[in-house]
Amino acid sequence: MLVFLTKNFGFNMKVLLVLCHPRADSFTAAIADVFARQAIAAGHEIERVDLYREGFDPVMREIDEPSWDNLDKIYSTEVLVEMARIERNQAIVMVCSIWWWSFPAMLKGWIDRVWNLGFAYGPQKLPLQKGLLIGTCASSAERFAKHGMDSAIHTQLGAGIMGYCGIENYSVELFHDAVADDATREALLKRASMLGDCF
Ligand SMILES: Cc1cc2nc3c(=O)[nH]c(=O)nc-3n(C[C@H](O)[C@H](O)[C@H](O)COP(=O)(O)O)c2cc1C
Repeated sequence: MLVFLTKNFGFNMKVLLVLCHPRADSFTAAIADVFARQAIAAGHEIERVDLYREGFDPVMREIDEPSWDNLDKIYSTEVLVEMARIERNQAIVMVCSIWWWSFPAMLKGWIDRVWNLGFAYGPQKLPLQKGLLIGTCASSAERFAKHGMDSAIHTQLGAGIMGYCGIENYSVELFHDAVADDATREALLKRASMLGDCF
């Protein structure tokens, strides 16, 4: 039997693409667009979430606080909508700028509220097979490595969040020198395209 393999080895997935940046015309948004375009060309389906444009409220309030003795707690409608988005996809890609050697509060708040007990951790984990976080950052790879910021980010955002919530196949990609010059940005856009192609 002849099996046609695309560059993603035939595993076409439904992918939730979460963009977190205050400006719609940011470089970070351009990275997300290029990734999405190429992932679609490679056979994936993309569902987009734009946290700023949708006005997501990142503040955890009582209604969405995990109840340690109640795994079946019903969370707020806003959170249930976000959970349903995750549930109808098989993979997640989060694209943001790196702020203070971590991810922005908006994305942190989305995870705080939505990746909640009984859905993302506890006896039940996220129903996602693959996760990728792309973080654009001004500093070079050397600057990140100098104080171990690169491994800190991989540990915290990779193992500490995606891995902890059951995503076995996860990675964190730092897009360094994102404000350097046009040539560097062009190279980073190509890298986003390559990641979309191979996702
Ligand atoms: C509040 C804030 C904190 C930042 N912290 C960092 C940082 O810790 N490390 C770094 O390399 N860049 C940092 N930056 C720079 C951004 O990562 C950079 O401006 C961005 O990735 C460029 O993409 P953009 O043009 O889409 O915003 C920070 C920027 C802001 C606004």
